[in-house]
Amino acid sequence: MSASMSLQPIELLEQPGAQPVTGSAAREPAFLPDAYRLPAGMARNPVAAIQPRVVFIEVTNRCNLLCETCPRTYFTREPLRSLTFDEFVFVAEQFPEMQRAVLHGIGEPLLNRDLPQIIAYLKARGVETLFNSNGTLLTPVWQEALALSGLDEYRCSIDGATPATYARIRGADLLHKIEAGLAGLVQTKARLGVATPRLSIWCVATQENLAELPDLVRMAARLGVPEVYVQRMTFFGHEPEQQYGMARREMAIFGQDAVVQEQVIAECEALSAALGVDFRAAGARDPRSSLTAAMLAGDHPWQACLRPWTTAYVTANGNCLPCCISPFATYDYDSLILGNLFEQPFSDIWNDALYRQFRTDFFTDHPHKACANCGVFWSL
Ligand SMILES: C[S@@+](CC[C@H](N)C(=O)[O-])C[C@H]1O[C@@H](n2cnc3c(N)ncnc32)[C@H](O)[C@@H]1O
Ligand code: SF4
Ligand code: SF4
Repeated sequence: MSASMSLQPIELLEQPGAQPVTGSAAREPAFLPDAYRLPAGMARNPVAAIQPRVVFIEVTNRCNLLCETCPRTYFTREPLRSLTFDEFVFVAEQFPEMQRAVLHGIGEPLLNRDLPQIIAYLKARGVETLFNSNGTLLTPVWQEALALSGLDEYRCSIDGATPATYARIRGADLLHKIEAGLAGLVQTKARLGVATPRLSIWCVATQENLAELPDLVRMAARLGVPEVYVQRMTFFGHEPEQQYGMARREMAIFGQDAVVQEQVIAECEALSAALGVDFRAAGARDPRSSLTAAMLAGDHPWQACLRPWTTAYVTANGNCLPCCISPFATYDYDSLILGNLFEQPFSDIWNDALYRQFRTDFFTDHPHKACANCGVFWSL
């Protein structure tokens, strides 16, 4: 299969040229958080001139759900592991330039009991700290711990507004529990008089739940959650044998009924204005441009991505992958491992041969399969 045939639908981006370009000329989308940007004048060369500023550290790869869209439900990629506080510090200290830490990978962060200590360490370093969570463990104890921790953002993944849809996609009938947990966290923050963590609901949009997006906006308003984000479902590839569960081409909403999409988005926007809930897309896109994405086969859309120069992703076993999207975008997990920082300092891995090859391939017609399959704007 050619790279262009394997492309997923993608936003109409301003496309960088096929050659490395400097930071200011890389046509970075205006919404990108600063930490993802290249310093002015920095070229996207095979050797990265700066250390990563955005670091995803998977505090655990354990999970208590079996979501239909998640590769974790179908494939065991690495031994089960949760980072202890000391292990976390060992990992984090290898990133002296870290400005933004995202504490989820593939697993549920609240299953790591050292999380409050980990967050306190990061906040003492002045690092913006956030993670996505399935919300099923948001007990009063966690509500208070998170409200007191200094965590900047807690993003709750909810893929349906009705118990039946939620259960079908996320594999467990727990929507009522998650709603109660979120409402409790809102109340706990108010009781303690704290502004953080900022709360949001994140929905992976599929054919299964598209019609329920307006009810998710209503749910957010009812619970006191100020933001709802739509994420695009990523899948391994277009061949049936590369697909699993609901991570299948026919479940994606791209290239499907644009009239229905438009109606849903318009209803969400009207509700957003009426109820005071921000309605956004992952990557701080607006949902219309995200959900009405066009196929850009042959246009090298992945080349808009800056992550190989600004962002690192470390799994609970120390494996360094190019980004958090990549394990969702290729079946070939081993090819994503660019080094292991329990075996080698990260500063060596970052500009070692595998990383240099990854960055070199990025500017060809045949980038890594994950990049060829990638939606680029995903969960920042
Ligand atoms: C892998 S989860 C890890 C954090 C936590 N367990 C959770 O569910 O939020 C990170 C995010 O990926 C989303 N996700 C799951 N499957 C996806 C897919 N195929 N494409 C895009 N996002 C997906 C989840 O809904 C969640 O918001
Ligand atoms: S999406 Fe999150 S909650 Fe669901 S199986 Fe994957 S890691 Fe677990
Ligand atoms: S998989 Fe996507 S997000 Fe990750 S480095 Fe490649 S293009 Fe960027």
